[in-house]
Order: sequence, then structure tokens, then C-alpha cells
Amino acid sequence: MAHCQEDGAPPRGAGPGRFGSALGFVMVAVGAAVGLGNVWKFPYLAGANGGAVFVLLYLVFLALVALPILVAEVAIGRRGRASPPHALARQAAEFGARSGFWRAAGVVGVVMSLVIMSFYSVIGGWTILFAAEAATGFAAFADAASALAHQQALEGDPSGMLALQLLFIIATVAIVAGGVRRGIERSMRVMAPLMAVLLVIVVVYALAAGAGGRALDWLFAADWTKLDGRVALAALGQAFFTLSVGIGGMMTYGAYLPERASPLRASVAVAGADTAVALLAGLAVFPIVFAHGLDPAAGPALIFITLPIAFHAMPAGAIIGGAFFLFLFLAALTSAVALYEPFVAWRIERGASRLRATLLAAGISWLLGLVTVASFSFARDVHPLGFLGGPFAAFTAFDLITLGVDKLVLPAGALLISWFAGRIIAAPALAAVFPGDPAPLVRLLRLALKTWVPLAIMVLLAAGLVLG
Ligand code: TRP
Repeated sequence: MAHCQEDGAPPRGAGPGRFGSALGFVMVAVGAAVGLGNVWKFPYLAGANGGAVFVLLYLVFLALVALPILVAEVAIGRRGRASPPHALARQAAEFGARSGFWRAAGVVGVVMSLVIMSFYSVIGGWTILFAAEAATGFAAFADAASALAHQQALEGDPSGMLALQLLFIIATVAIVAGGVRRGIERSMRVMAPLMAVLLVIVVVYALAAGAGGRALDWLFAADWTKLDGRVALAALGQAFFTLSVGIGGMMTYGAYLPERASPLRASVAVAGADTAVALLAGLAVFPIVFAHGLDPAAGPALIFITLPIAFHAMPAGAIIGGAFFLFLFLAALTSAVALYEPFVAWRIERGASRLRATLLAAGISWLLGLVTVASFSFARDVHPLGFLGGPFAAFTAFDLITLGVDKLVLPAGALLISWFAGRIIAAPALAAVFPGDPAPLVRLLRLALKTWVPLAIMVLLAAGLVLG
């Protein structure tokens, strides 16, 4: 970089934006948290990991590990009032830690957001296609064979996937380029209620017409003999992914938190809403899956191959399926916004205009998306780590990116965040960000960040490396 910022110096440029209210923050952060993770990943992970055991562990890890990280991330951003590289560097300098290291960690996080966006935007593009298929009443999904053929045709067409991905990226750019208040916060005030209505429509239908009782059993009646290390790891990784923590997205939104809002209460509201949506998504998907005799353990294809078969077969399937995929598109879109904003905020601080910064983020994530597109299509038989043998041999580039994010990047980022908020920022300085909250709760948060949170993460990291 030609002109490096001095440690602790205030960033140039327009400075960080600010949300209009605490509710605005909560809506936007819920938008970031609720996404493909809740509706696509959570049901298929629950399905593939035996249902209730996974679900209950996920809830425990969410409350005890991922939630403290979320509060810490928001608090670091709120105190630093800047993008992750600057918020971290500045506060590291303030407390005598190595600001060069922490700035670099922030930059890695910002770049990792674009790496996540590279595959997120490809799947996001698919949701546009599937929402459009509602117009035909999901005619391409008459039976399992044709549903599979539909998916193979999609994955075998790289230019089609790139075009859909580009559409998704353009929608994201349109929101982010509008700015913190007029783009991100204002659009969310429209999209959040719409998403709530769409989801309720699908859940009510699924419970009324589908096999609700079996779905409830599947999700909540645990058979603890199924508990093992892999299930626990999958549950912890998903808890981080679903709350969008570990790479500075929530830190960036925290920098925009209004002065008087409590990072603690706002984070609890975000985690509560995110959990509710994941469980509701389960209640939307599994009653339909069971009522139509489909396989709950179908894996990542559960949403894109299995579910449309049911939408084709059921009465009003075009409306219910259309509502479902429109919801999924909006959920993905509002998460994608949070994947660009850290990078954009960082570039603005370094003198770029918001539009240019947003277009740069879009260009980088689109180019990186070529890896995902290729690994679905013409490079589907390329296994970059094949030479290592063992569990890595069968992974495509897409598998490596998504698994690397879940098992390496997010846990490592979360570990750094717990370190920063638990040990680098002095206790009174951290407490000062929570003026209206009960002191014992803030002390408990600090204790969590110093003890069981990093411990649980280190176990996950180590086990993830061993188990592959
Ligand atoms: N939580 C999002 C989802 O469930 C995905 C996500 C992970 C994310 N990390 C993020 C979104 C960081 C924004 C920022 O789909």
C-alpha cells in the first residue's frame, strides 16, 4: 500500500455512517444473520446429522459460544467506530498491543467476507432462478429423476450460473452503494416485514398440510446415542456461520450502532430472531419433506432438488414455492450486503468513494466466484488437495472453500475476537460500551470471553483439523 495509515490516526474520508436507531441496527443485523445459513444449510445439516441431537447442540453452542462472540464483535466495532482493520488497529494501539498484527487480522477478515460472497453469490443466483420457476408451477420437478436432471443442467452451464450470480451481485451493489442509512437501513425496513410475511405463509401451510408431528419429533426428540464429535463440530461451526461472526461483518455494523443503544440487548435480539428463523425454516421444510416421502438426509440438495418436487406435487405449490424461494432470495441478499460493507467501509476510510469501493468489492467477488462456478461445472472432477489423500482427496474447490470457512476461518476469527475483547481491551473500557446493562452480566460476558469460549473454539479447531 503506497500510503499507510499511522497507528491510531483517525481515518480519512467521510468517516463511518450511523444507523438511525437501535431498531434499525437490529433489523440490519438480523438481515445479515438470517440467510442461506438458516434456510439452506441448517435444515440439511440437521437432516444429515440425525436431527434433534444436532439441533439441541446447535442451540447450546449458539447461546454459550456464538452469542458472546457476537456481543464482543459488536462492542469492538462500537468502541472503534471504524471498519475492522482500523477499529482493531486503533484500539490495539490504545491498549499497548501490536496494532500492525491486528490491522492485518482485520484486513484478512475483510477479504474473507469477499471470499464468502464468492460462493454465496453463486447460490444466491440460484435462488433467483428457483423463484422464477414458480411461474411454471415447478414444471421441471415432476419426479426425482427430472429434478436431478434440472440441477445437473444448472450446474453444467457455467455461463448461466455466472449470469445469475451477476444478477444477484447487481442487486447487492444497488443496496450497498446507496449508503448506510439510505441504502442498507432503508431497504431493510421494507424487506424485513416482507420476509416475515413470506416465511409465515410457508410455515403455516407446511404445518397445516404437511406432516407437522413427524417434523417436530425429528427436530426436537433427541436420540442421544447419535451424539459424537462430528455432530458437535458441525453444530458449533453452524452456530458461528449463522450469526455471521468471525470476520468483522458484525464489527462493521457495530461501528454504526447509535450512541445510546446497548450492544448486549441488540445482539441478544439478533441471536433470538436468527434462531427463530432457523427453527421456522425447519418447520417449513421438514413437514413438506415427510408428507411427500422425501429423504430428510439428502444433504445440500435438500432445498434445490428435493423440496421443489413437493412444490410441484402439492396444491398451491406455485404460490408456496414462490414465497419460499423469494424469501430465500431476500434472506441471501440482506446477508450479502453485510459481506460487502466491511470492505467498502475500509476503502472509504482510505479515500475511495462508496460507489467505487462497492464496484471493486463486486468485481473481486465475481472473479473469485469463477472458482465456485468452475467446481460445479467443468472442473467438478478436479480435487485440488487430491495428492494429500485421506479425507481431503474427494473435495472440490467449492468444498474446500466452504469447509475452510466453517472449520478454519470463522473459528480462528472468533478466537481472535474473544482474545481482543476478553484480554486486550481493558475491563473498564469494555464495560463503558454497556452503560445501561447490568454489571454482573457484563462481567459474565468478559468471563466467557476469557474462559469457555476460547476453550470451546480451540477444541473445535483442533478436532476440525484432525477429523477433516
Ligand atoms: N449468516 C449468514 C447466513 O446464515 C452467512 C454469513 C456468514 C455471513 N458469515 C457472514 C453474512 C458474515 C454476512 C457477514 O446465511
